[in-house]
Amino acid sequence: MRKIALGVASLGLVAGLVLVFAFARAPVSSADEGEGSCVACHEKLNPGIVSQWRASKHAKADDVVSCDTCHGSDHQCEEDADKARTPSPKTCKKCHFKQVKQFSKGKHALADLSAKAIPMVANQPEAIQKMACLGCHLIGKKWDDGSVGKCDSCHTRHLFSAEEARQPEACETCHMGEDHSQYEMWRSSKHGIIHHTQPKSGRAPGCYNCHMGDGDHAVMTGWGFLGLRLPNTTEEWNNDTMTVVKAIGPWGHDEEGMNARVGAIKALQLARLDDESFQKARTKMLDACTKCHSRSYAKEHLESADEIIRETTHLLAEAVRIVDGLYTDGILPETEDGPKHTDLLLFYDSPTEVEQELYRMFMFHRQKAFQGAIHVNPDYMHWYGWAPMKSSMQRIQALAKAMREKAGK
Ligand code: HEC
Ligand code: HEC
Ligand code: HEC
Ligand code: HEC
Ligand code: HEC
Ligand code: HEC
Ligand code: HEC
Ligand code: HEC
Repeated sequence: MRKIALGVASLGLVAGLVLVFAFARAPVSSADEGEGSCVACHEKLNPGIVSQWRASKHAKADDVVSCDTCHGSDHQCEEDADKARTPSPKTCKKCHFKQVKQFSKGKHALADLSAKAIPMVANQPEAIQKMACLGCHLIGKKWDDGSVGKCDSCHTRHLFSAEEARQPEACETCHMGEDHSQYEMWRSSKHGIIHHTQPKSGRAPGCYNCHMGDGDHAVMTGWGFLGLRLPNTTEEWNNDTMTVVKAIGPWGHDEEGMNARVGAIKALQLARLDDESFQKARTKMLDACTKCHSRSYAKEHLESADEIIRETTHLLAEAVRIVDGLYTDGILPETEDGPKHTDLLLFYDSPTEVEQELYRMFMFHRQKAFQGAIHVNPDYMHWYGWAPMKSSMQRIQALAKAMREKAGK
């Protein structure tokens, strides 16, 4: 009897101590999940956030990376929620220096700049602008603290998983659609089919194997988005490239305008203007292929894709010259606020039918032809790419001819 009473009394003492301790506790510490902590309150408010965090390596680390590690501890209760800090890559950098640094040197870090570089965007309704560009280009967000990027573009919060980012679907939201359908191309290529039908085999590559296989967050390819670079292997190819480059951009076609344009193209790395970086990217890519193919096999594939880029650039340049001719001969009118020359970056705001056709040839068909060739997808290369390019060319020729006849020239 006495033994039991003593037991109850000491239990009471322990419980009391625990209670006193709980109330006297300092606001928060990283590993804290007790009453009044970030985790306890948010577990009720947003159980999804907390359970994802619990499943993350951050929660399981010896030195727990908790809510306050990233969001600070200025916000403590319902009333001061606006004091919670929004973490930027600078926050991650404390522990992931390498990835943050690499990311800041890669192409994704330029996404903010490029979204702002296209003037016709400003003519769209504000709500359209916001989702149309930033929906994807926020991956290169510039923060007030000087850091750049949104790491949760690929490692979504609050799981922050490397395995998730290794899935091609992590790239799909952005790398899909008319002008950069890399996901669709890859998915229906032999690589994508094997990746999906034998997911655990590791036999076939997803995006990350070829583009981030060594964990390098500074993604950048040789040819880039538009498959335009200088120097190329022939003079004709260089001339064709210059014809297209001149038609990119509203910066005017005089010398001053041309310099401004080249400056912007360089800053954005829109066209690649040095051979060294191309060769470096090519070597790195071949190293990735060599894990599964012989070097010469992979090299042959990439070189035949290069040839397809040459052909598509030539066809596009021909079309640009036809439209340019309409301006030079005064058949396309120079208006006060309209373009004075072919301007490929007017996109769907291009003022005439012939320029609309050129826009589709440039942004949709050529993109699919050369990107499909690169991503080993015969159908994208041919039926979604080269074939409609040829049809567009016919249409542009016919429209130009009719316009010249109508103008009597
Ligand atoms: C007593 C409950 C409570 C505690 C404790 C608490 N929060 Fe909150 N927190 C809230 C509420 C309520 C909101 C607002 C939710 C909403 O807008 O739906 C919020 C919002 C947030 C937000 C979002 C802010 C935004 O602008 O969207 C973050 C991040 C956050 N809390 C982190 C933390 C961290 C980190 C801690 C611990 C240092 C913490 N919270 C502690 C109740 C709490
Ligand atoms: C590794 C860093 C990290 C940790 C740890 C972390 N967060 Fe976050 N959290 C982020 C990032 C990054 C964002 C997105 C910020 C932005 O808008 O760019 C975010 C956004 C949020 C938001 C607002 C967006 C939304 O989805 O509602 C809330 C609320 C939030 N966190 C709560 C928490 C809570 C609660 C914890 C702890 C269980 C926590 N966070 C732990 C990095 C972190
Ligand atoms: C206080 C240090 C710290 C901070 C700040 C931090 N992390 Fe981590 N992170 C870690 C630790 C520790 C691990 C686990 C490492 C391990 O287990 O190999 C980790 C792992 C990761 C992983 C790999 C998870 C996996 O599946 O292997 C990713 C991705 C990650 N963090 C992203 C972020 C991002 C994004 C931020 C900023 C929003 C951030 N971290 C902030 C310490 C931190
Ligand atoms: C949130 C959207 C988004 C996600 C997710 C995303 N990207 Fe990107 N990616 C972009 C944007 C936007 C650009 C163009 C950046 C610019 O404007 O300069 C880009 C550019 C690239 C480039 C550079 C091409 C060049 O110009 O040389 C590569 C390679 C790339 N991404 C690969 C990937 C891979 C692989 C993944 C998945 C692991 C991925 N991206 C996930 C939006 C995204
Ligand atoms: C679905 C997501 C998405 C949307 C929406 C989007 N972009 Fe992009 N954008 C990308 C991706 C992905 C790339 C890179 C593709 C590649 O390299 O093949 C890119 C590339 C670019 C580039 C070329 C970057 C370079 O230097 O290589 C520019 C410029 C650009 N986008 C501007 C815009 C503008 C302006 C808008 C809004 C009108 C917009 N984008 C809307 C995903 C998007
Ligand atoms: C374009 C998609 C993408 C973005 C954006 C991205 N990552 Fe990653 N990250 C990956 C991929 C893919 C891996 C897996 C690489 C591997 O397995 O070699 C990875 C791996 C990691 C790892 C685990 C490294 C390891 O060795 O275990 C960390 C940590 C990490 N990323 C942090 C970050 C941080 C911090 C940012 C923001 C600056 C960021 N990531 C942005 C795709 C991305
Ligand atoms: C088998 C390897 C491989 C896989 C898998 C792969 N790519 Fe590529 N990717 C390449 C090569 C090669 C290039 C062109 C390199 C060059 O310019 O020399 C390229 C180019 C790109 C570019 C620049 C524009 C273009 O299309 O030419 C982007 C963006 C891109 N890839 C994204 C992705 C995404 C997203 C995935 C997954 C859905 C993916 N890639 C899968 C090898 C691959
Ligand atoms: C993770 C392994 C892996 C990597 C990395 C890889 N491939 Fe493949 N690739 C395969 C497999 C498996 C097949 C299907 C069997 C075969 O044809 O060898 C294939 C098929 C191909 C084919 C024939 C496609 C067809 O439709 O018949 C080409 C061309 C090719 N790969 C080129 C490349 C290039 C170029 C790279 C690098 C940019 C690359 N691969 C990287 C595994 C890989």
